[in-house]
Order: sequence, then structure tokens, then C-alpha cells
Amino acid sequence: MMEISIGIDLGTTFSAVATVDENGRAVVLKNGLGEPLTPSVVWFGKAEPVVGAEAKEMQEMGEEMVASFFKRNMGDPFFTLEFNGKDYTAKDISAILLKKLKTDAEKALGKPVNKAVITVPAYFNDFQRKATIDAGKEAGLEVLRIINEPTAAAIAFGLNQKVEGQTILVYDLGGGTFDVTLIKITTDEIKVIGTDGDHELGGKNWDDCIVNWVAQQFEDEFGSNPLADNLSINELLVRAENAKKQLSTRDTTRISITHVEKKDDMTYP
Ligand SMILES: Nc1ncnc2c1ncn2[C@@H]1O[C@H](COP(=O)(O)OP(=O)(O)OP(=O)(O)O)[C@@H](O)[C@H]1O
Ligand SMILES: [Mg+2]
Repeated sequence: MMEISIGIDLGTTFSAVATVDENGRAVVLKNGLGEPLTPSVVWFGKAEPVVGAEAKEMQEMGEEMVASFFKRNMGDPFFTLEFNGKDYTAKDISAILLKKLKTDAEKALGKPVNKAVITVPAYFNDFQRKATIDAGKEAGLEVLRIINEPTAAAIAFGLNQKVEGQTILVYDLGGGTFDVTLIKITTDEIKVIGTDGDHELGGKNWDDCIVNWVAQQFEDEFGSNPLADNLSINELLVRAENAKKQLSTRDTTRISITHVEKKDDMTYP
């Protein structure tokens, strides 16, 4: 029996796992919660790290022992986060996330999974690629290949199956980065001609803009800024992201916020 391999999109904000079914089609696997996307968030508040939706919820509730957006520091050995007296690099935290994705994939498939292809941004340098491979190994995976995200996107649209070669432009507006990549597809290879983008511009920045705008509206009306309170900020961040998503399909939406000014924040007695 052929051994199953999985493909992993290790995203800044969300990760996804897929495999190829018996008809040769790529199918996204559901995680342990039945969701196709797993938030790339790890919470270190328990004996074993908690990965995904629960970790994201803990972060939204203001928990501080949470790692997110660590893909931005992949391959940087000097970037570490300390949890429970232990230092973690972005590679270490990615390994924890990958381990969870592997376990969930095994549950979905009902078989052990030991091999994976992992995607990385086209701009990732050799250190960042190596760190991704090492994270996979740390998670117990043999990393068959590292594929550029825009290349994977082109394959997903079947663009490599066209007879004539073509040159295409792939836009990827992710959670933390906005990249544009020019790819040349020929019958025997997919080549990245050039890639560029803003690695500090993604959906998260949209969310932050909405949060700031709403907070300002609130302050103009009630004289107190909800950003002064951590709990209000977290609640506002969740509502802002939801509102943003709703506005992709609707013209209007509402955001409600609760903010009670604390006595010691007040200017007047
Ligand atoms: N329906 C929607 N409308 C608008 N934004 C959305 C919608 N659904 C998801 N998003 C936003 O897309 C972003 C996540 O995109 P994606 O999953 O492609 O990122 P990623 O793969 O984690 O990041 P990267 O590719 O930068 O590593 C989040 O900011 C999320 O709020
Ligand atoms: Mg992505």
C-alpha cells in the first residue's frame, strides 16, 4: 500500500493540510474540530502546548502566554520567545504547530503520516527554508519538498496542465503579508521569475485600521478611548476581523463594543 503524504500550507495566521485522493485530486483535510483551517497560534498555558482555535480564543481573552505571527521570524536564530522558562525560536513553535497538523491529518485519514510537502513564501531565503524543513523534522515529518506558495497556487488552479507554457502573476493577500509573484510555467518546470511584496501588510493591518477607527469614533462620542483597556482591545480586534469578513459580502455591518472606563483612568474625580 502506498504511503500517504500530505501538503501543508504553513500560514502566518492560518494553516491548512491537504492530500491527494485516489482520483489524483487535492483535497483539504479537516482538523480535529472539523475545520479546514487551523489558526497558526500556540498557547503555552498548559503542561502541553495548545494549538489552533483554542489558543486563538485564549489570545482573544487577553492571555499572554500565546505565540502567533511567528512565521515572520522564521529562520532568525536570535528571535526567541520565553514560555515557562524555556526559549522557543520561530522554528520550535512552528514544529509544535506542524506536529498538531500531522496528528489531525492522521485522525482524518485514519493512517499514520510521515511525509510532507510544505509551502513557503517565494521570498523566503535559504535560512528560512532550512528552518521550515527543520521544523518539519522536529514534528516527526520527512519533508519531501519545500514549494513556493505562489507555485502551489498555480498548481491548484491546474495551470501546470495547460499544453503551452504561460507567464502568470499570482497575488497573495495573506494574514501578515501581501506578495506578488511572476511565474513562468513550461511543460517541465514552474519557475519563479520574480517576487516582491510588503511583508508587513496583510489582513491583520486591515483589522488594526478598523480597530483604531472604531476606537476613535467611540472616543469622539463618549470621551473615553477603549484602547486604554486590554480587554476592550482584544474584544474589538475579534469584532473588527469579523466585520471585515462580513464586508466582503455585504455593504454594511455593525460593530458593538463594551467599554467601561476605570476610575483611575478618569481625568475628573
Ligand atoms: N471573507 C474574508 N474577507 C476578508 N478577509 C478575510 C476573509 N476571510 C479571511 N480573511 C482574512 O484573510 C487573512 C488570512 O489570509 P490567509 O489565510 O491567506 O493568510 P495566511 O496564509 O495565514 O498568511 P501568509 O500567506 O501571509 O503567511 C486574515 O487576515 C483574515 O482576516
Ligand atoms: Mg498564505
